[in-house]
Amino acid sequence: MSTTRELRVGVVGAGMMGADHVARITDRITGATVSAIIEPDEQRAAAAIQASRGAQSFSRIEDALDAGAVDAVLIAVPGQFHEPVLLTTLEAGLPILCEKPLTADPESSWRILEAEQKRQHPLIQVGFMRRFDAEYRQLRELVAGGTAGRLLLLRCVHRNPAVPDSYTQEMLITDSVVHELDIAPWLADAAITSIEIRRGRRNSLSPAHLNEPLLVLIELDDGVLVDVEMNISVQFGYQVATEAVFEAGLARIGQPAGLQLWQDGRFQIAEQQSFRTRFQQAFDTEIQAWIGAARHATIAGPSAWDGYKVAVACAAGVQALSTPGAVPVELPEKPDFYAGA
Ligand SMILES: NC(=O)c1ccc[n+]([C@@H]2O[C@H](COP(=O)([O-])OP(=O)(O)OC[C@H]3O[C@@H](n4cnc5c(N)ncnc54)[C@H](O)[C@@H]3O)[C@@H](O)[C@H]2O)c1
Repeated sequence: MSTTRELRVGVVGAGMMGADHVARITDRITGATVSAIIEPDEQRAAAAIQASRGAQSFSRIEDALDAGAVDAVLIAVPGQFHEPVLLTTLEAGLPILCEKPLTADPESSWRILEAEQKRQHPLIQVGFMRRFDAEYRQLRELVAGGTAGRLLLLRCVHRNPAVPDSYTQEMLITDSVVHELDIAPWLADAAITSIEIRRGRRNSLSPAHLNEPLLVLIELDDGVLVDVEMNISVQFGYQVATEAVFEAGLARIGQPAGLQLWQDGRFQIAEQQSFRTRFQQAFDTEIQAWIGAARHATIAGPSAWDGYKVAVACAAGVQALSTPGAVPVELPEKPDFYAGA
């Protein structure tokens, strides 16, 4: 692949996340252009084509590949549809940014690992964008550096103002806690060994079919305990924050950092309203890093193995929704293929 011309990215799925990535690559990212929109919904496809300033439109990934229209593929269809798009793109040997989750369950994620290992090196980067957030990176460095002593606890909150009716009880784990299942072990440089879920008083403002908030307790293999308040009906705004408790110190990330206003005897600070504002910088950094790596047919972030690990943890988390006590999380040995990823 030429290193001088812009990387031609095909975006598969132009819904909420895909449209966001099209705007990002077109307006803020350097070294790449959106050359193809692969989206069966005509209205969404048309809006994305317009935002991309001239991408070609396809309804199937196979057609975009046959037309030679793309150098790399960004997958932003719902998780249950990732597997066929991943397999087809792997077969073509193109670099991939796959929005989280890798796939919907450990079995299909394992099939992706098997297919990827037929290539020369990893081609799939999974969209766990928190790893590109400046504060999460600082916290990871603090843990690794040990200047505040050893890490003891991670206290996480994940709060949404509200969710659409299509959001299910399982999605509390597979769509939301999924991020903590990647980032907590990454921060601590450790592996998840078990997950337990407790529920107390239900929020009467939650959609009728949901029973939340949840308290998710995650054990890591180095003794660090992680608790996550998963709370999707808080009404007031969007908060993703972590408090890290060390032997000799405390660190907080994800605190409100918007406009501060003193008026009428009150002090106010603007709160985030959605993941898009909270993580805009992280998404931009993630996609810029991926574009740089994809130009050399490689990856610059979480691999398919990381995606597989999270799929296994998610399955345990879903089981823990209906099983009292801690559900163990067991992984097979990491394939050598992913040693450097
Ligand atoms: N990183 C994050 O924080 C974050 C946030 C939101 C969504 N996501 C992920 O982004 C992905 C998309 O989520 P969304 O909320 O944008 O979904 P969405 O439902 O808004 O959009 C999905 C789009 O994909 C299209 N589509 C479905 N099957 C297709 C196929 N086979 N080929 C091409 N297009 C197809 C649909 O027509 C739809 O327009 C999911 O994997 C989701 O988990 C990640």
